[in-house]
Amino acid sequence: MTICRTKAALTDLVNEWHRAGLTVALVPTMGYLHEGHASLMRIARKNADRVVVSVFVNPTQFGPNEDYAQYPRDEAHDFALLEREGVDAVLAPEPIEMYGEDATVSLTESELSKVMCGAFRPIHFAGVLTVCLKLINIARADVAVFGQKDAQQLASLRRMVRDLDVPVRIIGAPLIRESDGLALSSRNTYLSSDERTRALVLHEALDEAQAAYESGETDAAKVVAQIKARVAAVPGTRTDYVVAVDADSLRPVTKLRPNTLLALAVHVGKTRLIDNHIL
Ligand code: PAF
Repeated sequence: MTICRTKAALTDLVNEWHRAGLTVALVPTMGYLHEGHASLMRIARKNADRVVVSVFVNPTQFGPNEDYAQYPRDEAHDFALLEREGVDAVLAPEPIEMYGEDATVSLTESELSKVMCGAFRPIHFAGVLTVCLKLINIARADVAVFGQKDAQQLASLRRMVRDLDVPVRIIGAPLIRESDGLALSSRNTYLSSDERTRALVLHEALDEAQAAYESGETDAAKVVAQIKARVAAVPGTRTDYVVAVDADSLRPVTKLRPNTLLALAVHVGKTRLIDNHIL
């Protein structure tokens, strides 16, 4: 595996691959890699000749009171996992290499990024879209793989690619869960064992909503209210939002139907967790 600390080192490498007729898949990550990330790499491997992973805790997608400084980092563990997964190259730059001293251009999406998490994290999606476009450009990626766990991120990235004619194919990869149903996230590491038990309510509430839909319930407001009530019954939780929206446009639906995204964001203690189901 080639370790690239500079953008130019990676671009030179992928240019060589492209000259040899090989295709390139990119998996952007913020490191602290887990099985969910590994599943993205395996999907990348099936869809291109070479796999590039970026490990970069992107400062521009964290608000001033968010966890940029505390975000977990473990490069040795990450590189070992990348080797094990047969990744061809990793881009692991410092923020100064990524942005220079004086970057003044960033991407704004004006609809999908304003709702759900965007309503609570106003600068988050501008930071995500900007860094992802940069990474796609640096890696000259033919394919880029993102997890369905961050459903709003995935929808916003698809919109960016559509609206800016970015020559990359976006692949959404299934959400991976622990055996007890907790969605895998690098932030799970913040949870105490008691909070981790409480956090199971996110997926339990979604499972119950899915079951209600499968037995004929289509009233979105009723199902959203049920999820809210189920979560509120667990002490130590605080809900940011629960929504039923179209998975592509993120516009609210009144009737549940296939491709409805049921999504929620909940604070468990000091940790903010997200989870979702697509019906
Ligand atoms: O999903 C993430 O880990 C990040 O938002 C991403 C896509 C790597 C951009 O920094």
